[in-house]
Amino acid sequence: MHLKVLFCFSFLLLSAGITTTDAAHTTFTRTYDQRILLENGLGRTPQMGWNSWNHFGCKIDEKLIRGTADAIVSTGLATAGYEYVNIDDCWAELHRDSQGNLVPKTETFPSGIKALADYVHNKGLKLGIYSDAGSVTCSNEMPGSLGHEEQDAKTFASWGIDYLKYDNCNNHGISPQKRYQKMKIALQNSGRPIFYSICQWQNNPATWAHEVGNSWRTTDDIADSWDSMTSRADENDKWATYAKPGAWNDPDMLEVGNGGMTTEEYRSHFSIWALAKAPLLIGCDTRSMSNETYEILSNKEVIAIDANTLGVQGVKVNKHGQLEVWAGPLADNKAAVILWNRGDSTRHITANWSDIGLNSTTVVTARDLWAHTTRYSIKGHISVPVKSHACKMYVLTPQ
Ligand code: GAL
Repeated sequence: MHLKVLFCFSFLLLSAGITTTDAAHTTFTRTYDQRILLENGLGRTPQMGWNSWNHFGCKIDEKLIRGTADAIVSTGLATAGYEYVNIDDCWAELHRDSQGNLVPKTETFPSGIKALADYVHNKGLKLGIYSDAGSVTCSNEMPGSLGHEEQDAKTFASWGIDYLKYDNCNNHGISPQKRYQKMKIALQNSGRPIFYSICQWQNNPATWAHEVGNSWRTTDDIADSWDSMTSRADENDKWATYAKPGAWNDPDMLEVGNGGMTTEEYRSHFSIWALAKAPLLIGCDTRSMSNETYEILSNKEVIAIDANTLGVQGVKVNKHGQLEVWAGPLADNKAAVILWNRGDSTRHITANWSDIGLNSTTVVTARDLWAHTTRYSIKGHISVPVKSHACKMYVLTPQ
C-alpha cells in the first residue's frame, strides 16, 4: 500500500510539472497544459456555488432561486467564494414551443429565466442551468438538448446563463464523447462564456472529458449518508491525475447541512472535497442553515485549499485499516494534509513526512484549518488523536 500510494503521489506531482528531488525545496514549474482544453477560460479553480438538486429535487421555483441568491449574499457565503446559483432538473415544460425552443415552466418560473439571471447578476452572482445530452432529462419531466445543442446553447446565452450542468439520461446509446463534444462546440459558438459541467460518470469520463468540459462527474449520485460520501471520495480519488486548472474531477455536490450526517462527518466531507479540488456546490437550503452548517461551508482556510492556484488534486497517501492520511501539494512549497479516522472510536493518526513527500529533516509549521491554530517546529511527522468519523486538516509550511 505504502509504495503504491507514494508512487501515485509522486506521479501526481510530476504530472503537474513538479519535481520532487527534495520535496522541502520542491520546485513548482507551471507546465500543466500539455493537453487541449476547453478554451473558455473558466474554472481555473474548482467551481463554487449552490445547486437545487440535493435538497429540493424537482420542487423548485423562481422564488427559491431568488431567495437562495439573497441568502448566499446576506450570509457572507458569496464573500467566501460561492458564486454560481445553479438550477437543476425540472425547470422547463415537457414540450418545446412551435420553434423548438425550451420553455420555462409557466407555473414555477412565470417570470422566465432571463429575469432570474438579471436578478442573480444584480446580486453579483452567476446563474447556472441544467440540461441533458439525451432526448429527455433524468426526471423525465423536461426535454433534453440532444439534436438541439446549438439552439439551446444560444437560448442559454441569450438568457444570460453562466453555467451548464449537462446530464446523460435517455441518450439513445450514442457515445458520450460525441454528445458532449457537440454541446461543447455549441457553447463555444453561443457568444457567452458558459462553464461546462459534464454530468456523466460511465465509461471513465476523466480519460476524455478534460478536453471537453470544465468538470466531469466521477461517481454515481451522492446521497446524504456516511457510506455514500466516503465511497464517492474513494472513487473520485482514482482519477486524480486528470484534474488540473480548467478541468476538474467531480465526486458530486455537497450534502453538508442536509441532516443525514453528523457535524464531524460533514466536516470530513467538506475537507476531503477541498483537498481533492472538487467543485464546492452547496446542496442544502441556504435560507435556513444551522450555525454548524454555516461554519463548515464558510471556512475560508479550507476553501483556500480547494482554490489553491497550484491546482493539483490531493490524494489518499496512506492507510492503516480505517485510519487514513490524505495529502496534496500547494503553491509556495506548502502541503495540505488530512488525518481521517473512518473507524468507530477515537484513534491516534500519524502522517509521516515520507507519506507527504517531505524530506525527513524538514521542519514545518502546521496550521490547523478547523481549530484555526498554529503549531511550530514540527519535524518528521504529525500525530494527533482523531475522533470517530472526524478529521484533522493542516497546511504544512516548511520553516
Ligand atoms: C442525475 C444527476 C443529479 C441530478 C438528477 C436530476 O442524473 O446525477 O445530480 O441532476 O439527475 O434528475
